Amino acid sequence: MKNILVTGGAGYIGSHVVVKLHEHGYNPIIIDDFSNSQHSVIQGIKNITGKDFKVYEGDILDQSLLKKIFGNHKIEGIIHFAAKKAVGESVEKPLYYYKNNVSGLVSLLEVVKEFNVKNLIFSSSCTVYGQPDKLPVTEETPKKPANSPYGNTKQIGEEIIEDTINSGTTLKAIALRYFNPIGAHPSSEIGELPLGTPNNLVPFITQTAAGLRDSLTVFGDNYDTPDGTCIRDYIHVMDLADAHVRCIEYLEVENSDQHFDVLNIGTGRGNTVLEVINAFESVSGLKLNFKIGDRRAGDVEQIFAQVDKSRQILKWETQHSLTEAMRDSWKWQQKLSNKSSSDSVS
Ligand code: UFG
Repeated sequence: MKNILVTGGAGYIGSHVVVKLHEHGYNPIIIDDFSNSQHSVIQGIKNITGKDFKVYEGDILDQSLLKKIFGNHKIEGIIHFAAKKAVGESVEKPLYYYKNNVSGLVSLLEVVKEFNVKNLIFSSSCTVYGQPDKLPVTEETPKKPANSPYGNTKQIGEEIIEDTINSGTTLKAIALRYFNPIGAHPSSEIGELPLGTPNNLVPFITQTAAGLRDSLTVFGDNYDTPDGTCIRDYIHVMDLADAHVRCIEYLEVENSDQHFDVLNIGTGRGNTVLEVINAFESVSGLKLNFKIGDRRAGDVEQIFAQVDKSRQILKWETQHSLTEAMRDSWKWQQKLSNKSSSDSVS
């Protein structure tokens, strides 16, 4: 069975990818420092798969740990998630972001070169496009200057990988530019676990509905969109996870040396914030307490993907609707809320 190293494998997207890798006959090996994830995720993965995958607790900046992992296992490919991801925090702590996301990647790539690992998938983001002049965005849409250190780390990350490949290694890599991942595993064994107040829309919606937050503020309703609220391309995390595994399978049969490519991973559809709230209300049967507030600094008005290239290369289609994603997010939140109320009783 082929070993795939998943850095950040206990995180939101990483954990769903671990499950999908197993379903496709791979042996995922996890490295995670648990700085933004919880050990309970590993139990959730086990409950779904019935397997205990090898977990290394540590940081990708620790090259002695990386060398130990590559020495212990023949690694056929790497899916690299381990990175910080909060836009606002990156503005406050840029060096923390450059250290983790950029130095962390360099640290990983040095060891990748030393051990001649062939295949790498990099977690990138549609943030590299900024507010595009034309929609939907294709992979050829010009990048705009990043509007946060976080966004910059994704742009730089792609460039570092491409330069490394061009310098003459046997490495092949694909950067997946994610749009907005939402939803949870349908079993509710794993899902998003935001630390503290969520920055993202969907966990904020579900936490408000669960009574953990008083109300949701919709950041602006005076944009040039059909209902005035921002448009994003919301993709179910299971579809996103599926794209990663297909990408690993594709890289395994891709023969050219020095292969680097970028792929958009979204649904190809845009939804407004109010449409997401409506979808939530219809699956939950609840009225969400929300108010319209000011625009949030740094938000782009609208962005959604063109996904023809990933469909064609990965032979991949999204399977889950916005409604299903909201249903799975809500089920997951209800499970978390039930667990925390039973924990506080016991
Ligand atoms: N929103 C609200 N209220 C909230 C939270 C969000 O109205 O409490 C709105 C935002 O203004 C935006 C939409 O919901 O219009 C989505 O916001 P998210 O924070 O969920 O997602 P973003 O599109 O802002 O950010 C995501 C990723 C980032 C990435 C960015 C790239 O979370 O990591 O896409 O565009 F950088």
